[in-house]
Amino acid sequence: MPDAPASPARGVWGSRVGFVLAAAGSAIGLGNIWRFPYVVGENGGAVFVLIYLGFVFLIGAPVMLGELALGRRTERNPVGAFAAVAPGTLWRFVGLLGVITGVGILSFYGVIAGWTFGYFLKTVSGGFNTIIAQESAAVFDDFVSNWMLSTGLLAAFLVLTALIVWRGVSRGIELMSKILMPMLFFLLAVLAFRSVTLSGAREGLEFYLAPDFSKLRAQTFPTALGQAFFSLSLGMGAMITYGSYIRKREDLVASAGIVCLFDTMIALLAGLIIFPALFHAGLDPASGVGLVFQVLPPLFATLPGGQLFGSAFFLLLTIAALTSTISLLEVPVSYLIDEWKWSRGKAVLVTTLGTALLGVPSALAFGAVGLFSSVPGANVDFLTLMNIVFGNYSLSVGSLLLAVFIGYRWGVAGAAKEIELEGVAFGLRPVWAFLIRFLCPVAVAVIIVYIVLTGNYF
Ligand code: TRP
Repeated sequence: MPDAPASPARGVWGSRVGFVLAAAGSAIGLGNIWRFPYVVGENGGAVFVLIYLGFVFLIGAPVMLGELALGRRTERNPVGAFAAVAPGTLWRFVGLLGVITGVGILSFYGVIAGWTFGYFLKTVSGGFNTIIAQESAAVFDDFVSNWMLSTGLLAAFLVLTALIVWRGVSRGIELMSKILMPMLFFLLAVLAFRSVTLSGAREGLEFYLAPDFSKLRAQTFPTALGQAFFSLSLGMGAMITYGSYIRKREDLVASAGIVCLFDTMIALLAGLIIFPALFHAGLDPASGVGLVFQVLPPLFATLPGGQLFGSAFFLLLTIAALTSTISLLEVPVSYLIDEWKWSRGKAVLVTTLGTALLGVPSALAFGAVGLFSSVPGANVDFLTLMNIVFGNYSLSVGSLLLAVFIGYRWGVAGAAKEIELEGVAFGLRPVWAFLIRFLCPVAVAVIIVYIVLTGNYF
């Protein structure tokens, strides 16, 4: 299929601030507030956090800059972007892997987002006013085992995402990110303050911030790496796609830096809320995907005005999830528009339906359907399996190939030329070149090979 010429009708971000907030809106989501605390809890706390931070700044940030530059240079969806730089090669399949990964992630992410919205409804209606930590796990189990509710919430959330993506990027996304992200940050800061002043908070802070190297496990590395890519929205072309809407005069280095910084701050804040509260209540840090849903409602219940506060929190978290799902859906949609010449409406409709179908087994994973609650051969439930396959490994492989593509095929010089357009200074160029050509591919490859050899996938 021929690649479409970049057309002015694709749309651009309204402003620099608009772009940074939209990219931050993509990055900041359930990955920071739901996924980060639970993987930290499952992987021994502070050691994991330390390795995670290293990966974010040494591997994630350079890959983000590469994705943004590739997107802006080609003004295409991921498949078109690879094809534009390396026409007639197999590289386009890296883009295609990204398109598929986007659908895979969205399918389970929509389920968690649906739960978040469900928890909002429950908080607003006063259902959590008297909840105590000792019963919150049972309440969560009860909630998620209602498969009709989970499926309905998934469908509702995907429809909402589809409506915004259908309206087009800048109109839908920018506005929401601009107002709501700062509000979310404020609520998180208040909650963190509450949490660290609880009795028993000290133990939680130690778990979270004082590394205990004896807790390192084989899976710590791939999990931290996958978490970094997941949280920063890397490895599947979301940032290529968002980059394709940036104007030439913007500073990509500063933008990537700010997004990485914001995203990391939000994740660290989330941990600062969860761990003190968790140890205060004597819950298990390795509770898996339900962790945040078990810790937060009882924490709200201890706050004056907790019902209002908790409602605002779950609503904002739902919206943060929405600004992320928009970027996930935008990737397959822009691919179908550019490469298959579909209308936006048709592309949105078909991808949303496909994603919803793929999401049903994840929505059923905690219900009565045994097949999905323990997938044969994987010893995890379907949702967790999707989360690991698409949210960890697929993104890691995608990022590895992307780093190789940018470092060797497009070349550091070509990429730097795009980054330095209109006289933007790129003092970190030699550092970036080293990271993208050597450190990123080698580190990611070593981790993947190690996991394949040891068979410790989960
Ligand atoms: N980063 C988002 C979060 O933390 C999720 C997300 C959005 C994503 N777009 C992505 C993850 C692209 C990987 C790739 O919630």
